Amino acid sequence: MDIVARDITKIYGNKGNEIIIFEEANINIPSASFTGIFGVSGAGKTTLLNILSGIEPITAGKIIFDGWDLALAGEKERSDFRLSNIGFIFQNFNLIPSLTVVENVSLPLIAIRDKKEAAKMAEAALERVSIAQRAKNLPDTLSFGEKQRVSIARAIVNRPKIIFADEPVSNLEDRSAEKIIQILRDFNMKEKATVVLCTNHSELSRRKWDRFYNITGGNIKESWPTI
Ligand SMILES: Nc1ncnc2c1ncn2[C@@H]1O[C@H](COP(=O)(O)OP(=O)(O)O)[C@@H](O)[C@H]1O
Ligand SMILES: [Mg+2]
Repeated sequence: MDIVARDITKIYGNKGNEIIIFEEANINIPSASFTGIFGVSGAGKTTLLNILSGIEPITAGKIIFDGWDLALAGEKERSDFRLSNIGFIFQNFNLIPSLTVVENVSLPLIAIRDKKEAAKMAEAALERVSIAQRAKNLPDTLSFGEKQRVSIARAIVNRPKIIFADEPVSNLEDRSAEKIIQILRDFNMKEKATVVLCTNHSELSRRKWDRFYNITGGNIKESWPTI
């Protein structure tokens, strides 16, 4: 699924106290691409993923998925669209502490009535990220890197057409970061999913991205980071 954001403006705050994050910015994310987005802390990476997925409203502009305009949909239609098409890897994981690993991973499967089928899908997702042995654990008993894998399993469990990954490797050492990138690249190649990954790791820029964007000064440019 491709994503086109046209002339998007995002302003937080009220009149007289406005924070402009994007000003008529454009981004074009091709279907099935592995797209990287670089930006320093505070540049607007999380804001961008939130507006692309419709979690956060835009001030002006358009966001179009395979020709379908997100803004024209109602709240229910938008949340159904998110649930069936978008997997989100949050910067702080957003795992629910009172639910086990496998229960957390099953959350996006609420629409699947066959509970056995849902459990199988959750198990398969956990296996795919090599964390199946922790299925019955509570999130608090896991290491940072393990929580990261669980959050990836939850993002891929219903085979979304798009994955948004918000700084999935920023707090990992190089070897773990490499593995996480590889898992996402595999999912992108095998499932033809569009993967959009935000990072502030400038060295990641040398990897083989299909596209790479740089957020600077309220704009999004197709370029390698220069820092
Ligand atoms: N809900 C909000 N209200 C006001 N300002 C916000 C809000 N969310 C984020 N910001 C501000 O927007 C800027 C971009 O934030 P963010 O998208 O989180 O950046 P990044 O993810 O690149 O670190 C920051 O200056 C942040 O303080
Ligand atoms: Mg962020």
